[in-house]
Amino acid sequence: DARKFFVGGNWKCNGSVQQVNDLVSMLNQSTLSTDTEVVVCPSQVYVQGVSEKLRKDIGVGAQDCWVQGNGAFTGETSADMLADMGVGWVVIGHSERRGKGEADEEVARKAKYALDKGLKVIACCGEPLESREAGTTNDFVFPQIKAYADVFSKEDWANVVIAYEPIWAIGTGLTATPEQAQDTHADIRQYLGEVAGADVAESTRILYGGSATGATAPGLSAKPDIDGFLVGGASLKPEFADIVNCQG
Ligand code: G3H
Repeated sequence: DARKFFVGGNWKCNGSVQQVNDLVSMLNQSTLSTDTEVVVCPSQVYVQGVSEKLRKDIGVGAQDCWVQGNGAFTGETSADMLADMGVGWVVIGHSERRGKGEADEEVARKAKYALDKGLKVIACCGEPLESREAGTTNDFVFPQIKAYADVFSKEDWANVVIAYEPIWAIGTGLTATPEQAQDTHADIRQYLGEVAGADVAESTRILYGGSATGATAPGLSAKPDIDGFLVGGASLKPEFADIVNCQG
């Protein structure tokens, strides 16, 4: 399988110096499968400290970045800065940011800018409950994928993982069933083939995110088109290691 299993931990707006140090110690002591690529994404203020203290086989990512380079953009963090700090990854287009007004095109432009600066991108997508209930999930998710495909080159895709995160599953405890997730992952992969090419569709990892836990990860990961997880709440707990190791 060319798609190495991938587990990202999105710590979101959580932590304190103490809690972050504890998390790093926990990770440094964990037995983690070498068959899984692991990346953790602390809050921006903790990124540097985590990078310095964390074992080197775990990657570090930011949770967002600015859409362009340095300048008079108060409060923003540019991809240039993240690259300069040696940060490897950045989450782009999380629904918690889209909800604050980031449209598909801006998200895609931001992702492209980060790729151009040498960062790897966890490119998020996912539908709200209304779309899921109306049976129009693909109508919501495909334009998000199309926006990425419109600006990514073939080479860019080698540095991208897609995170499919149904909004109704995030932080709710309502994990998608393996069948629900597999169906949408397969649809995304097929659509990716149409807009980015068969080779990109075959090689791009599609992660599931939304209340993934140590208990739900094995069933989800057994599905052919689920190539890993983007984990929120459980990434702050020891069970994160169980998710990393869920393939047995
Ligand atoms: O980026 C992570 C997702 O939003 C999932 O969060 O695992 O807390 O539901 P959650």
